Amino acid sequence: MRITVNRNADTPIYLQIKNQLRDMIFSGVLPVDFLLPPERSLARELGVNRSTVIKAYQELKADGLADSHVGKGTVVLPQTARVPAAPDRYINPLPWYQLFTESIMASHDTIISDIMARTGRDVISFAGGIPAPSLYPVAVLEEIQAELFRTAGQELFLHSPVEGCYPLRESIGQLLRQRQIVAAAKDIVVLSGSQQGLDFAARIFIRPGDTVIVEEPTFFGAIQIFRSAGARVIGVPIDKDGLRTDVLEALLVRHKPKFIYTLPTFQNPSGISLSLQRRYELLDLAYQHQLPILEDDPYGELYYDTTPVPSLKALDRHGYVIYLSTFSKALFLGLRVGWVTAPPQVLTKFAHLKQMTDLHVNTPAQLLLDAFIRRGHYERHVARLRQEYAGRRNAMLKALDKYKVPGIGWNKPAGGYYIWCRLPDNIVRHKLVANAAKRGVVFLPGEAFYPDGTQGDTHIRLNYTFTEPEQIDNGIKYLLQAVKETACANYEEECQHTLKPLV
Ligand SMILES: Cc1ncc(COP(=O)(O)O)c(C=O)c1O
Repeated sequence: MRITVNRNADTPIYLQIKNQLRDMIFSGVLPVDFLLPPERSLARELGVNRSTVIKAYQELKADGLADSHVGKGTVVLPQTARVPAAPDRYINPLPWYQLFTESIMASHDTIISDIMARTGRDVISFAGGIPAPSLYPVAVLEEIQAELFRTAGQELFLHSPVEGCYPLRESIGQLLRQRQIVAAAKDIVVLSGSQQGLDFAARIFIRPGDTVIVEEPTFFGAIQIFRSAGARVIGVPIDKDGLRTDVLEALLVRHKPKFIYTLPTFQNPSGISLSLQRRYELLDLAYQHQLPILEDDPYGELYYDTTPVPSLKALDRHGYVIYLSTFSKALFLGLRVGWVTAPPQVLTKFAHLKQMTDLHVNTPAQLLLDAFIRRGHYERHVARLRQEYAGRRNAMLKALDKYKVPGIGWNKPAGGYYIWCRLPDNIVRHKLVANAAKRGVVFLPGEAFYPDGTQGDTHIRLNYTFTEPEQIDNGIKYLLQAVKETACANYEEECQHTLKPLV
């Protein structure tokens, strides 16, 4: 029996002795009826007072682990609570699903993680919404980071305010000015990507059973988040001018939604922008119906033809718009930095949720970004992206035209990341996915972008920013071969079906 005492520990010595004896009893090292050493001899062995050992033994007895009898000494008692030795006793598996909340059970869509997993080396991926890796401004960031590590001292490693580092919020304010949005540092909360902003908006506004209006199609991540908060997600169709405000009006009366979620500029997935006229109509409807607008704007600064019309936030004169944006699309996703600007009452709630969820965005990322923006690198980088991505968009449009098959159609987006491509009639989507994957091409099927999941099988979303221009041509060639193969197989199946003899 080996007991050690640590005189520098906070735990009193009698408790150290008692705890070690207790552990030896529970683990079976000291069996039932084991005679513990007499108090005097254990005290001598450990170099402690006899009263310390007496106290340790008293504690053991109080816990029902030992007992003493005059003339017999202190012995170990049988333990009813001890883990039974039988190693192969059958334990029922834990029914995890019975323990989950309804909201997590409602959300089993793995589309985002699937896309993230699908962007491997040996596939041509048009699936993700990822910036071009070859354009990451690695050298400049490396330089700034090395300098920060040399000069920032403790500031780099300390926590930052819940709302985000003040200088970064100032820099974001400057960026917003170029988007015609007036927001000071105090009007901004830095978030772990705009995805976190969507989650917080859901937590702030949605009670189970509430309705949220979204464009149809819209960003699947938002559908997933709103739905898992218990919302009924209702879609408003879009046309070439964006969200159909004429349809929206009737829906507002019927459903009394909690808010409308919209991507007015270079929408994901359609690439379409809401016209200026419709922006005013949407704001008017919001004012009439006291409807908050959640504007998500990850792509607005990536325009390839003319400057886009002002954001809803820039046009909003009455504080109805909550505006989310991110650095994920102009820099890189792994940074996980986005932000929200909103009326003060709402912004306080975002800050409170930030504090409860993860305190703040990591400090080195914030300081790195701030220096990158202040030194003018961000503006130059975005200007370069506009040129590069316009080239990639044009390469994809050219390839679509070159390899087009009957029944296929697409739009020409004026900015952003995506081409929304219409398929020939009656293409069986899962067959197309398989036929394209066989040729090493992946894309996103349209259904993911519709809240009711029954529409969208007529479209696919093609991202043109991630794949290198020389691969875009090949990828589209293989994809359209797959479309042709799937359409022909369909056609043959249909023919066989109609030729079947009637019985
Ligand atoms: C419309 C939209 N909102 C939000 C996000 C999430 O962006 P972040 O990486 O900033 O969380 C994306 C990403 O694809 C998006 O397309």
